[in-house]
Amino acid sequence: MSWVVENSLAWYHKLFINILKCGPIPRHIAFIMDGNRRYASKQNVNKAVGHTRGFDKLAETLLWCREMGVREVTVYAFSIENFKRSEEEVETLMQLAKEKYAKILEEKDKLHENGVCIRVIGNLNLIPKDLRKSIAQAVLMTKNNNKSFLNVAFAYTSRDEITNSMQTIATSDLDAEEIDSDLISSCMYSSESERPDILIRSSGEVRFSDFLLWQIWNTNVIFTDVLWPDFSVWHFFACIFQYQRCYKNMQLVGESLEKEPKGGKTMAGLEERRLKQLEIYAS
Ligand code: FPP
Ligand code: MG
Repeated sequence: MSWVVENSLAWYHKLFINILKCGPIPRHIAFIMDGNRRYASKQNVNKAVGHTRGFDKLAETLLWCREMGVREVTVYAFSIENFKRSEEEVETLMQLAKEKYAKILEEKDKLHENGVCIRVIGNLNLIPKDLRKSIAQAVLMTKNNNKSFLNVAFAYTSRDEITNSMQTIATSDLDAEEIDSDLISSCMYSSESERPDILIRSSGEVRFSDFLLWQIWNTNVIFTDVLWPDFSVWHFFACIFQYQRCYKNMQLVGESLEKEPKGGKTMAGLEERRLKQLEIYAS
């Protein structure tokens, strides 16, 4: 399946979208796409099929997000912890990612037409060279698109992201009192993203699994029992509705925290360094 799927929504889905659009719409949704293997065993198919259906569901979800007006999506595609799975399963997931990233390069025109920018958050040093090359090429190819943003967390954990941010700061000549939360955020893999308004985890597991722990300080967290490949547009609408019900309270917390003085600091030259590194990986 393609990353940019054709609009397959029925008139009544569109009607629902228009009703929901009367309320606040999240700018950024993060997904923990959990339950692919349980789906596979329920359907009596192998794990690889479960993960492929998981990818297809992601592509469909991106369409729903675009139609709903959600600008940014972040997905947990592969955690550093996932390297501990069997060699066969890790290889299956790497193969799937290779195939899908190769597809991004083929779908260049479609991605540009739709203004889709694909970014990666994670520790690229841990990713096999050939996959890393395709990922870097895809990121560079779409970097100037600015209508919708997809952040793929690959070889990612929050603890690794925070550790990496601290290491970056430690190599600078800043004094301790110059370090604030803005500076730490600017050194995260996700520094180009706004914080998520909603975090959705499928499959009934009630855990964060080391995902975006720094970023979700005022995020509406939704745990849903459905397995990721079974996640439907109605589950999606229910999540948006739940967010709208919590919106006022979230606004109040956000406003009071945002009143605190902010440094707005960033690490000089970090963006350029990251871009150069991507160009090396892509070559
Ligand atoms: C969690 O289900 C899912 C994953 C570890 C992989 C998610 C990956 C995809 C949906 C494909 C995305 C690919 C790209 C290139 C973006 P699980 O394996 O933990 O299943 P379980 O909870 O039932 O055991
Ligand atoms: Mg799981």
